[in-house]
Amino acid sequence: MKKLIVSAVMGVAVVATGALAADGAALFKSKGCAACHQATVDTVGPSLKKIAAAYAGKEADLIKFLKGEHKAIVDPAKFAIMQPQLNTTKALSDAELKALADFILSHK
Ligand code: HEC
Repeated sequence: MKKLIVSAVMGVAVVATGALAADGAALFKSKGCAACHQATVDTVGPSLKKIAAAYAGKEADLIKFLKGEHKAIVDPAKFAIMQPQLNTTKALSDAELKALADFILSHK
């Protein structure tokens, strides 16, 4: 019985994580981020894979960057292109920022 409860709880956790990632993906598209960021290829901006590698284990820093409170670490020379996008991300709720960061970090 205990086992059953544990696996039921884990099942919910997996579904919840999936829902968060889906939200992040939707936000990433609807906020226009996909125009400059592709999953694995660098275009105008660095690939999500590259960003995920730079911020591996540092989700709090990634969220700070999106709030405009952390310096760029991926491609600082091109930060001027990214900077105006922070007006969009600064306006997001903490839950939305977490979903966005989870989505970005899922590209390892
Ligand atoms: C007009 C093109 C453009 C758009 C649109 C854009 N980005 Fe960027 N982004 C860039 C460029 C160029 C860089 C590289 C400069 C840098 O590292 O800050 C970058 C870098 C980043 C980084 C790495 C920051 C770091 O530490 O270096 C993150 C995270 C990021 N973008 C997230 C987003 C999100 C989320 C959105 C949508 C709200 C978005 N970007 C929209 C061009 C863009």
